[in-house]
Amino acid sequence: MNEQETLLSIKNLKTYFVNEDQVLKAVDDVSFDVKRGETLGIVGESGCGKSISCMSILKLVQSPNVRYEGGEILFEGKNTLKMTEKELRKLRGKEISVIFQEPMTALNPLYTVGDQMMEALKIHKKLSTKNAREKCVEYLEKVKIPMPKEMLNRYPFSLSGGMRQRVMIAMALITNPKLIIADEPTTALDVTIQAQILDLMNALKDVTGSSCIFITHDLGVISEMADRVVVMYGGKVCEVADTDVLFEHAMHPYTQGLIHSRPTSDYDGDRLQVIPGNVPSLNDKPAGCPFHPRCPYASKQCGEAFPPERVYPDGHRVSCWKYCNASEVQ
Ligand SMILES: Nc1ncnc2c1ncn2[C@@H]1O[C@H](COP(=O)(O)OP(=O)(O)OP(=O)(O)O)[C@@H](O)[C@H]1O
Ligand code: SF4
Ligand SMILES: [Mg+2]
Repeated sequence: MNEQETLLSIKNLKTYFVNEDQVLKAVDDVSFDVKRGETLGIVGESGCGKSISCMSILKLVQSPNVRYEGGEILFEGKNTLKMTEKELRKLRGKEISVIFQEPMTALNPLYTVGDQMMEALKIHKKLSTKNAREKCVEYLEKVKIPMPKEMLNRYPFSLSGGMRQRVMIAMALITNPKLIIADEPTTALDVTIQAQILDLMNALKDVTGSSCIFITHDLGVISEMADRVVVMYGGKVCEVADTDVLFEHAMHPYTQGLIHSRPTSDYDGDRLQVIPGNVPSLNDKPAGCPFHPRCPYASKQCGEAFPPERVYPDGHRVSCWKYCNASEVQ
């Protein structure tokens, strides 16, 4: 496997919600790549465009007002934004799987776990019912579900949150997808179950070699899961770096704020440094750099124009006027 090969490339994506009287720019000129076999973390406070960016990949944004206004999303070189619904259906579940924060939104309450797991296998892999059942049991074992054969006959409502999430992960992996999009897959779970599920996802990803986009607002989770991180704010990408580089040498003031506001293992109970202010709403987004009303380094320029991105030789990318000045180096 070539670690450097690009599987997915999002270029200048603009996903807007267009109403009669306004255009809400939820994703505003966003670019990032996912390499084969890597886990790319996407982090940022609520409302910064993490989910809408990733749901755009398969055109899964649920709104009649959504418009993919610009850019391209190349999956193995083909632009998904230009695909027909039929072409997208072939990708969904087979080449690209999605794990949602709340599995009840993705699991159909009217069908058993077995029916739902087998459907994807019958459609995409053309397996017989017997072979599909065996495969389901194998994957339920992989996600450490006790008595997997019995699980096939159960309905989602009869399962705990942790069990439902395991079923979702088994369903996401069973077709051996090239890309898994995990959107806050453990946020709804308690801390112990969360840790178990994260360990499980890491172990399974190592075996399957799938790429993964892991969305979370939790930097602790990012540090455990991701090889590289995209930091988003106000529908824009502010910084991209390898995970260890990001934690050691965060450049963007927003990333620095996120890192400083996170409790660490040697946290002594003192008050954490929180980023002052709130994420702006889409209909009241500030001009220029959207972070400027909260940024301690903001200058006049910051309120006027969004900074050009600076890309360093190691691939570290940052969009901040501070670094457009030649004297500020990495
Ligand atoms: N159907 C919609 N119509 C209008 N605006 C929407 C719609 N769905 C999302 N938005 C807005 O788009 C922006 C980006 O939303 P998104 O769901 O991508 O945020 P997020 O970063 O995933 O946040 P969270 O951490 O809360 O999941 C938010 O401001 C949100 O309010
Ligand atoms: S561009 Fe300006 S406001 Fe935005 S993060 Fe950089 S210094 Fe702060
Ligand atoms: Mg989200």
